[in-house]
Amino acid sequence: MNKVTIDILLTNNIHICATAEAASIKVARVIADEIIKKRSLGQQLVLGLATGNTPKMVYQELVRMHREEGLSFQNVISFNLDEYYPLKETHPLSYHSFMNQHLFDHIDIAQSNIHLPYGEWDVARLGDYCKAYDQKIKQHGGIDLQLLGIGRNGHIGFNAPGSAFDSCTRLIDLHSTTRADAAADFEGLEKVPLQAVTMGIQSITQAKKIILLALGSRKADIIQKALREEVSAQIPATFLRTLPQVTYILDKEAAELIAEPLG
Ligand code: GLP
Repeated sequence: MNKVTIDILLTNNIHICATAEAASIKVARVIADEIIKKRSLGQQLVLGLATGNTPKMVYQELVRMHREEGLSFQNVISFNLDEYYPLKETHPLSYHSFMNQHLFDHIDIAQSNIHLPYGEWDVARLGDYCKAYDQKIKQHGGIDLQLLGIGRNGHIGFNAPGSAFDSCTRLIDLHSTTRADAAADFEGLEKVPLQAVTMGIQSITQAKKIILLALGSRKADIIQKALREEVSAQIPATFLRTLPQVTYILDKEAAELIAEPLG
């Protein structure tokens, strides 16, 4: 993976790439460039990270850059979007496990610079922990670059339809579509947790730069809605359209309902 082809630039901030691989490499390049830029200034990059199938190739490319090009993550502070609740950190399907498996175990980020909502937070103090998570992001100066996927119901993080624009990090009930999409991984709908801790829409939209990555034809319908339908909490991703700092990076399948098919 070393060549990026951008086939169409629809507007300033919607990029359609020929393949999922090209889109993922483009995202990885943006992240790497931000890390390098900050390092040259002697600063840390506060990086918001996502889970799911979508960012896997991005992480694969970042790991490759670390191994083959010497990209260092020593000046990176990461905050993940969400975690299932309750779920043990060591559960193979926890987002802690996901991040270790796909990224953290393979790069030189300091363990103390990694932050994720915790599926084992004590329920009695959950509100305090969530507040402290948002506070910690602020203490680090806010998120410089946030990577997002999108759920088929338009969720970002785990902010289900109905999530308010000013929502902060909190416990949320998982939407039926979201649980159904996770059922195969958990080997049965009944094993999918009912709730999650997610950064709120406000926590996400305060990021200085945001990249929404969507891959594959199963995302085409929601991408069309996110970009074309009225801005409303019913499709939380529509909120992103109100922000100047958002870039959408799509492969041609995810973009098939918003653009003419590519040659
Ligand atoms: C989960 C995550 C989201 C992610 C979404 C889409 O719900 N919490 O952050 O964007 O899944 O997942 P996928 O990329 O597998 O389609």
